[in-house]
Amino acid sequence: VTVPHVTLANNNTVPQIGLGLWQIKDQMQFQQAFEAAWSVGYRHFDTAQAYGNEQYLGEAWSATGATRDDVFITTKIWIKHFGVKHLKSSFDDSLASLQTDYVDLLLLHFPVTLRRKKAWLALERLHAEGKARTIGVSNYTIRHLEEMKKYASIMPVVNQVELHVFLQQPELVQYCKDHGIMIEAYSPLAHAKDMHNQTVSLLAQKYEKTYAQIMLRWLVQEGHVVLPKSGRPQRIRENYAIFDFEISTEDMELLRTQDRGLRTCWNPTHIP
Ligand SMILES: NC(=O)c1ccc[n+]([C@@H]2O[C@H](COP(=O)([O-])OP(=O)(O)OC[C@H]3O[C@@H](n4cnc5c(N)ncnc54)[C@H](OP(=O)(O)O)[C@@H]3O)[C@@H](O)[C@H]2O)c1
Repeated sequence: VTVPHVTLANNNTVPQIGLGLWQIKDQMQFQQAFEAAWSVGYRHFDTAQAYGNEQYLGEAWSATGATRDDVFITTKIWIKHFGVKHLKSSFDDSLASLQTDYVDLLLLHFPVTLRRKKAWLALERLHAEGKARTIGVSNYTIRHLEEMKKYASIMPVVNQVELHVFLQQPELVQYCKDHGIMIEAYSPLAHAKDMHNQTVSLLAQKYEKTYAQIMLRWLVQEGHVVLPKSGRPQRIRENYAIFDFEISTEDMELLRTQDRGLRTCWNPTHIP
């Protein structure tokens, strides 16, 4: 199965599925997950300074013998590192851990009030230096993105937010479309908080796919990048097998009715 690559506003491309690496803290488990992912075809990996596994990712991808171009690596600047000097040095540490001299995508992890502007300007410099091919943000609401128009020389190319069948955020999605910002759907399985929805289950039966595959395929057909996480080889393979079937227009509509504003992670809407 070939995974589609999505073209970003800056003409860089990204594989439409990436392996989420949050909460894979143990190196043995990391290695096992990485190997399962690599062998089935994942080439896009989503880590963060806060996940504590950049080092494992660096070791794992280097050991494959692949060239750097074959891998798409995302990391995120943790909120404690938003001070300009600290941001730069923490990012250098990230690059060393990841065994590379650039990342494909660098994100600000969260819209920290008062510090996010300077942090973004620092990201723009890292981009200019070639250390981050694409820069973006995470957990930004429309308000946070609008504010950036006042200070950004480069607008974010990516916004990584919680998005799934049960949290569809239509206004934010439309805003990002209108502004050429690619959405990366994090917690695309709703962090496994609801694996028993009747509509999703019925469609899983109908398409002879699993519950998780319906959840992911819906996002893919909506045009988003998806970042499912699993530490288990079998599920890692299952989550990847979503490019060989299509949900009909009517069933896409049906899934659209299942939005219930379910947040399983951060809620950035109240951040001034
Ligand atoms: N930018 C941010 O602030 C932010 C926040 C949250 C997440 N993220 C990113 O998004 C990634 C994914 O989000 P997430 O980890 O919160 O949630 P998720 O991918 O929606 O769900 C992960 C959970 O689902 C289970 N699971 C995975 N595949 C499954 C399957 N096929 N069937 C049944 N259960 C399955 C996993 O358990 P097992 O591991 O035991 O299989 C785990 O408990 C993260 O790893 C991270 O890279 C970013």
